[in-house]
Amino acid sequence: MSYRYPEGNVFYRKLARSYPVCVKGEGIYLYDQNGKKYIDGSGGPVCVNIGHGIKEIAEAARDQAQKVAYVHGTQFTTIAVEEYAKELAKVLPQGIDKIYFLSGGSEATEAALKLARQYQLELGNQQRYKAVGRWYSYHGNTMGALSMGGRPGARKLYLPLLSNFPHIPPSYCYRCPFGKTYPQCNIECARILERVIELEGPETISAFIAEPVVGATIGAVVPPKEYYPIIRDICNKFNILFIADEVMSGFGRTGKWFSINHWNVIPDIITIGKGISSGYIPLAAMATKKEIVDVIKKGSGNFVHGHTFSHHPVSCAVGLAVLRYLKKHNLVEQSAKRGKYLFQRLNELREFPFVGDVRGKGLMTAIEFVKDKENKVPFPRAFHFTEKILEESFEKGLILYPSKGFVDGVNGDAVMIAPPFVIEEKEIDEIVNILRAVFTEVANK
Ligand SMILES: Cc1ncc(COP(=O)(O)O)c(C=O)c1O
Repeated sequence: MSYRYPEGNVFYRKLARSYPVCVKGEGIYLYDQNGKKYIDGSGGPVCVNIGHGIKEIAEAARDQAQKVAYVHGTQFTTIAVEEYAKELAKVLPQGIDKIYFLSGGSEATEAALKLARQYQLELGNQQRYKAVGRWYSYHGNTMGALSMGGRPGARKLYLPLLSNFPHIPPSYCYRCPFGKTYPQCNIECARILERVIELEGPETISAFIAEPVVGATIGAVVPPKEYYPIIRDICNKFNILFIADEVMSGFGRTGKWFSINHWNVIPDIITIGKGISSGYIPLAAMATKKEIVDVIKKGSGNFVHGHTFSHHPVSCAVGLAVLRYLKKHNLVEQSAKRGKYLFQRLNELREFPFVGDVRGKGLMTAIEFVKDKENKVPFPRAFHFTEKILEESFEKGLILYPSKGFVDGVNGDAVMIAPPFVIEEKEIDEIVNILRAVFTEVANK
């Protein structure tokens, strides 16, 4: 049994696709109504960090809903929200300990954009409203998030509705935007931020936003070790807030609690989503420093923002249960360990003529596909290489996540492999075996 538009009443995300009905999740596996078993090789959209079907997480939701399911964030606080914030602050980078709970990653990045603007206003910096983003970064699908983001395909339709924010090129060594090679490159991709700020006028910039490890737009791209220390210095020099968007890369995904920890840099604002609840409930957060909230407290007194479902007690009870589960089972360490094994196994696939790059950190990895390996020429988009790999893998019971259009805004093919942290080595072998079979089949078509 499967569904396809226009059967039923659901407005599906993909109108041409046939949807199997998922009835069960357990560990790294999903099962459909026909009894077919899938390896959730990407944790959905790189979201399911602790694995599917964990009873104690479901019980945490039930217990909180039985006590009190809802209060408005301007009227009450709850034990669930207070306890969770206290425990979450302990794993966040030092000094980032004021947490605003939300329902999704786009809400978190929108809130960060607004906080940066209001903070600058309260300091008397009336003109500072622009957030500098990066091309081929993704911060969500709402208008502020799209304005900061640099995924051409997601922005194109809505360009007349977006704010005209500046963007710098990504830190993407496999295809250096400056045609240079690390380490002789002088980390031009970070230093360009200073030039862009100067050209735009520092007095107009409120913040700089980056995914410390780029997520789905290019696929698990990790900047060199010098990158974020340089970015931090530039932000300090111009009194610009640094927002680390950890919606995908956070919560242990790269083998540390937050991916920015790999650079020992402390941002001013962190946005978290996806793995924060491991998908068990809609939950996200924007976290910042007391000094920043204090500017607002001493100024106008209130952050001019809010949602009906912010600071939701049931979501926070689930978040707390997920956080405790990660700690109890040492899953962040396991993400680092299994990530090393996954990376080693994926590298074996470089023998295929179309595997151009294998990259990532922890259990956030990706494979980039090219038509001509030597010259890194991408497949023409019309060839739909990523879609072919995705469909064939799904058919064979392996779920992957796509990245497209990152070479020139149109072309560029990659898939992300980012399984739940509970994965065993033999299950990683199973993923690699399926990928090998899929690649062989696609190569022969
Ligand atoms: C880095 C990053 N930021 C923000 C978002 C938006 O999150 P959501 O889809 O929960 O709105 C995403 C989603 O993929 C993301 O990867």
